[in-house]
Amino acid sequence: MKKLESREDIELLVNSFYGKVIKDEEIGLFFNEIARVDWAKHLPKMYAFWESVLFGQMSYKGNPMGAHFPINEIRAMEQKHFDRWLKLWTATVEEHFAGEDADQAIYKAENIAKLMAFKMDLARRL
Ligand code: HEM
Repeated sequence: MKKLESREDIELLVNSFYGKVIKDEEIGLFFNEIARVDWAKHLPKMYAFWESVLFGQMSYKGNPMGAHFPINEIRAMEQKHFDRWLKLWTATVEEHFAGEDADQAIYKAENIAKLMAFKMDLARRL
């Protein structure tokens, strides 16, 4: 199995992940109907995000948590949605890659998702 090591690898991973996401019955609607994602803009952001998280590239300049609050206000982003997101992410990583950076891609997503789920839940209580 291939190592996750280049920008091209990240593009493949991200494209194939969102290919699953948009068809998904549980979380597809957040992207297709609620945020009505402009994929030509979103995908390059996500390449930069993962390049920064995994390879320390500093190419992502954004607010990953902040982007989700408006979505959470329209439709609650609950633990079950994060579980599903992580299941699709982990499956996509494992389909294509193995090794330390592949493990890190899963581990870091788990941590960010945990924090994000907590913040979305808190925001709904305030
Ligand atoms: C239930 C889980 C999640 C859902 C439904 C979700 C949905 C979305 C949506 C609809 C957008 C907006 C796209 C747009 O701008 O049009 C977005 C942006 C983004 N998401 Fe998520 N997301 C989830 C979890 C995560 C997790 C766990 C991460 C990180 C590991 C993440 C990272 C990002 C980033 C980096 C952006 C771009 C923010 C920016 O505009 O700079 N998301 N997400």
